[in-house]
Amino acid sequence: MDFAAQLSQLRLEAEQALDRFVPAAQTRPSRLHSAMRYSLEAGGKRIRPVLVSAAAELFGRRADAGAAAAAIECVHTYSLIHDDLPALDNDDLRRGRPTCHKQFDEPTAILAGDALLTHAFALLASHYADRPTLATALVRELGQAAGSTELIGGQMEDIEAEKSPATRDQVEFIHNGKTAAMIACSLALGGLIGGADEAQLATLRRLGRAVGLAFQVIDDVLDTTATSAALGKTAGKDATAQKATMVRVLGLDGARARAAELTAAALAELSKLPGDTAFLRALVESLLHRGN
Ligand code: IPE
Ligand code: IPE
Ligand code: MG
Ligand code: MG
Ligand code: MG
Repeated sequence: MDFAAQLSQLRLEAEQALDRFVPAAQTRPSRLHSAMRYSLEAGGKRIRPVLVSAAAELFGRRADAGAAAAAIECVHTYSLIHDDLPALDNDDLRRGRPTCHKQFDEPTAILAGDALLTHAFALLASHYADRPTLATALVRELGQAAGSTELIGGQMEDIEAEKSPATRDQVEFIHNGKTAAMIACSLALGGLIGGADEAQLATLRRLGRAVGLAFQVIDDVLDTTATSAALGKTAGKDATAQKATMVRVLGLDGARARAAELTAAALAELSKLPGDTAFLRALVESLLHRGN
């Protein structure tokens, strides 16, 4: 199978896992479950669940990765629903559709986010319950990545840094927290499911940090260069909101060069991993040149 076919296959498996592991829209209260599924099913790129599966596949354990893949996409989608709220980035468009609070209302969007976040941990704990050591490790890894020193910490400084003169250190902290932590976590979850040893887990986390930082630098670049139609979210928002971005600190060419440097660092880490790394290599390279 070529790269594009493998990527479609892993995306399909991610969507199937979400459908299987998230309560149906008609579950009471159906307004809440409909809102959760509305945002989940809007069709993101599914990079994080694909990374979970691809990392587990290095160790021949992809079939066991579906619940963890769904869990990380639930946390990611919750973070987007809350990121778009009027109190944060105040966005109207996400994944090519009205944002959750626009389609429903603010209380429903807040609660849908809360529920997706909580559901992820319940899913990990219950699905892997027959292997308590693994279940605990997965919950710890995701809890750390989604918590106050990582995802939420990055979001906090992102908001605090609005309208202030941005420094490179500040932007790196924000990127590392709001984006790289969850991408590193995705690879680590796959590694844990695959039975990776400590050294391999450390390599997966370093690989994920580099990929995640590059991913967010490109997100900053695309905000200034792409159209809302291509992105499925409002382009040009970072400049309007005076966000601390890598484009603001390094300029467009500087940001692109930084993303290329981070991608090279990621590929160097990837070469230390066992198994067939060709798919991950192609994925990491493709993310540097993505258009959405
Ligand atoms: C958007 O993430 C938020 C960032 C961390 C840049 P994605 O670009 O992965 O969004 P979806 O999941 O494809 O919608
Ligand atoms: C948000 O970063 C990252 C999250 C984890 C929610 P951004 O605010 O840059 O993401 P977009 O551009 O709205 O997708
Ligand atoms: Mg934001
Ligand atoms: Mg945003
Ligand atoms: Mg952005």
